[in-house]
Amino acid sequence: MPRLSAVALLVSALLAVPLSASAAPVTVTNGTQFTDTSGNVVHAHGGGMIKVGAHYYWFGENRNPDNTFKAVSVYRSTDLKTWEFRNNVLTNSSAAELRLANIERPKVIYNSTTRQFVMWMHKENGRDYSEARAAVATSSTVDGNYTWRGSFRPFGHMSRDITLFKDDDGTAYMASAARNNADLHLYRLNADYTQVSTLVRVLWRGVSRESPAFFKRNGIYFLVTSGATNWNPNQQKYATATSMTGTWSVLANVGDSTAYRSQTAFVLPVQGTETTSYIYLGDRWAGAWNRPVNESQYVWLPLKFPTSRTITMSWHQRISIDTATGVVHGL
Ligand code: DGJ
Repeated sequence: MPRLSAVALLVSALLAVPLSASAAPVTVTNGTQFTDTSGNVVHAHGGGMIKVGAHYYWFGENRNPDNTFKAVSVYRSTDLKTWEFRNNVLTNSSAAELRLANIERPKVIYNSTTRQFVMWMHKENGRDYSEARAAVATSSTVDGNYTWRGSFRPFGHMSRDITLFKDDDGTAYMASAARNNADLHLYRLNADYTQVSTLVRVLWRGVSRESPAFFKRNGIYFLVTSGATNWNPNQQKYATATSMTGTWSVLANVGDSTAYRSQTAFVLPVQGTETTSYIYLGDRWAGAWNRPVNESQYVWLPLKFPTSRTITMSWHQRISIDTATGVVHGL
């Protein structure tokens, strides 16, 4: 009998173990600077994430004290709290036009045909804000040194705040703020993701939206964006569509009037054994209190879905993330 009980205990213990390599639930504290495993501040401002194997790779802005470009830095984590610095994948010495520059909002997607990781970002000259260019860099490994592929205005249009989205069929899109941020453009990328192939549509004209971030949930496409108020936070809004190239809904508010003093950087799907959660990744820009970008903080909040096409977001000083189960909730 005792032997049988021991076996039963073992079986039940085994069944309770998540079938994933990811770690246990962690707590992330909002409105703070995160630190990496070496104790250094994580500089991944205006960033985005891509999951490769068991790791989430977080790319973002790492700036000099005068706010000019220092690097695009990449960190990785399995639990979204323990961040290991991996590399400065793009630096001042990666290209002549990066010696003095501003690089904002880097985003990376993977092209399974070319087997290249493709980064798009917003590029300025480091002196003023007149260039309004998109720029591209590529690498055969996610956290290797990226090769600069140049900067340009897509079809001649100004291009500032930028994001990427790769659909399930491999079609990739770039959206960026055009015409001095008045319009938000949606472009389809070419097969290797290094160029725009068409201007799909002007998502909104004359509405001054910045910081676009797409995600897809149960076949519905969502786009979260901010208004344009420099470093100061403002009302985030969102829209939905049943296809990327189709008609997008009118913009609706999400979060409070300042997104809890933050601006959208990215929306991260966390797919686990129980569910898929969607985390709003926001920047609380230090420019709002006249400090350099590298003093900015992070605001991460779970999105909720009252219906299939609506989202809500409320404030939590701390959130719990379980990358094994996919369960994310406020504390
Ligand atoms: C708001 C943008 O979203 C940021 O990326 C940055 O460009 C600031 N404006 C600069 O004022």
